[in-house]
Amino acid sequence: MRVAAALGLADGALVAAAWLHDIGYGPDVADTGFHPLDGARFLRGVGVGDRVARLVAHHSCARFEARVRGLERELFAEFEPEESVTYDALIFCDMAIGPDGQPMLFEDRIREVYRRYGESDIARALRMAEPCLRAAVDRISQAMNASDCPER
Ligand SMILES: [Fe+2]
Repeated sequence: MRVAAALGLADGALVAAAWLHDIGYGPDVADTGFHPLDGARFLRGVGVGDRVARLVAHHSCARFEARVRGLERELFAEFEPEESVTYDALIFCDMAIGPDGQPMLFEDRIREVYRRYGESDIARALRMAEPCLRAAVDRISQAMNASDCPER
């Protein structure tokens, strides 16, 4: 909510997507095992707004993991990605919080994911996604600095 306020994102999409982005991990929601797609399908199915579902589907450069899992075609066919400050801000928020809700620096967050998943498809996808994630975090960090927000 503080990031949305600092960036003037008042439509609620960032906050909704931030709360819901990992819902695809839920045992009642998981289907393919690719949580961005499972979560987005679930959210669309229960009538959450299409934009939030699309943000969830593509959160944190999910296309790279989709590629590794052979689900890229489905992801893009069902959920159109967006390039926006909201999309970048969702990445910024995801990369600033660890798995237990603790604040983390980007580099520590990346290391934490590698440590948690070891040599796996997720680590392989993360290596491909890292430049995309870093660029979004940098764009939002600069915008936050420009907005003089304490949340950087
Ligand atoms: Fe996620």
